[in-house]
Amino acid sequence: MYLPQLLKRVEQGEKLVALTCYDASFARILADNGVDILLVGDSLGMTIQGHATTLPVTLEHMAYHTEAVARGAGGAFILADLPFGCYQSSPGQAFASAARLMAAGANMVKLEGGAVMVETVAFLTARGIPVCAHLGLLPQSVNQTGYRSQARERKAAEQLIQDAATLEAAGAAMLVLESIPAMLAAEVSTCLSMPTIGIGAGPDCDGQVLVLQDLLGMTAKPPRFARNFMAGAGDIAEAVRHYVQAVREGRFPGPEHTF
Ligand code: KIV
Repeated sequence: MYLPQLLKRVEQGEKLVALTCYDASFARILADNGVDILLVGDSLGMTIQGHATTLPVTLEHMAYHTEAVARGAGGAFILADLPFGCYQSSPGQAFASAARLMAAGANMVKLEGGAVMVETVAFLTARGIPVCAHLGLLPQSVNQTGYRSQARERKAAEQLIQDAATLEAAGAAMLVLESIPAMLAAEVSTCLSMPTIGIGAGPDCDGQVLVLQDLLGMTAKPPRFARNFMAGAGDIAEAVRHYVQAVREGRFPGPEHTF
């Protein structure tokens, strides 16, 4: 699937459903059970590789997993993360890295950061690479922020709103909002034309994303915004369908998953 088809669903009032995915077997299950976006997230640094952060993930790791997902995805939309250290130094560096992931099978790349990424977003989108921005909690900046919810004060919230608008003007076509107050995510989603995909950002985003292992109840200490969809499901496919239905019907996330 290509970006215009995905955006059409949002125009038609559908919520977008995304899940992280790192291999071909899960790609097939997710695609067959209604997930719109398979996110090859650099969270694989934790979920697959066992690191404490996403920082050790390399471009070659991301390309390897993107290729695997693409083999199983049967044409489902693939969003791949640009990993730490392979896009921040210049738009040219970002283009070379993004091109590697697009050649591996991605339909869009995701990068973290606000105003500092605007030039890079414009550079990539002008050269045929759709870009998803990522604001709020930025796992690649964990050494500055820790893993805690972001933009809780008005000044930081206003900065986030401004960053989102500037990224959209530069060409970003989608925005992940991670661990921010639900009211702020709702405000950002109203202000923008591009769809917002929330994770720990309340129910009013245009779509939701979860880490697959959190959804499957495999995480030792899951984040507050996650839910174990294996509870009450007979198998993984059923758990995925429950997640898809809950997001589409506005039943997930609930108030207990929200900041
Ligand atoms: O890598 C990842 O899993 C992500 C999600 C947290 C959105 O970027």
